[in-house]
Amino acid sequence: MFEELVKKRKSIRKFKENPIEREKIEKILQCARLSPSACNSQPYKFIVMSGEYKNKFCDSVFTGMFSSCSFVKKAPLIIAMIRTKTSLKMKIGNMVCDTDFSLIDLGIAGEHMVLAATDMGLGSLWVGWFDRKKAFEFLNLKKGENIEIIIAIGEKDEEPNERKKKSFEDIVEFRS
Ligand SMILES: Cc1cc2nc3c(=O)[nH]c(=O)nc-3n(C[C@H](O)[C@H](O)[C@H](O)COP(=O)(O)O)c2cc1C
Repeated sequence: MFEELVKKRKSIRKFKENPIEREKIEKILQCARLSPSACNSQPYKFIVMSGEYKNKFCDSVFTGMFSSCSFVKKAPLIIAMIRTKTSLKMKIGNMVCDTDFSLIDLGIAGEHMVLAATDMGLGSLWVGWFDRKKAFEFLNLKKGENIEIIIAIGEKDEEPNERKKKSFEDIVEFRS
């Protein structure tokens, strides 16, 4: 049931190093591919990292002030979510609506991945605390592309308690 899946998902910061089967990885990415996006623009691509490449990436982006997230290197799989070049249509849409739909689109695709991983019993973590400049260079991204967020996935090596959330009343307002 969807509600149970949502409750099952928790940020995992301790991973086992066992590799994730290719079939599972592809299922996770297919769930992201099917997500909705503004004007169906799908303004993303995903770079899937494992093994030595992933280790070198982590050594590069979790240094200095970002080293508090160096534990991410232990995850066997890291997916970098790249925001691709904004089309003219979306630039106009973003301007008129005074928002950046592409970040919403990336958020939806990312959560599809996280929930797909949860459904397979895997742990995951959204990671925003990394050196973006170094990540851009390491991944050899093109002009107009941005690495917005990383998702780490792997077998869980911890079962954390549910984190404190704001109350229903704090965040919901019914109006009629
Ligand atoms: C966009 C985003 C970025 C995040 N970045 C980090 C991060 O860099 N490091 C980290 O340890 N956790 C990160 N988290 C995880 C949050 O700290 C976590 O979701 C929050 O504390 C609630 O806990 P829960 O996910 O277990 O419900 C991030 C979460 C989101 C959604």
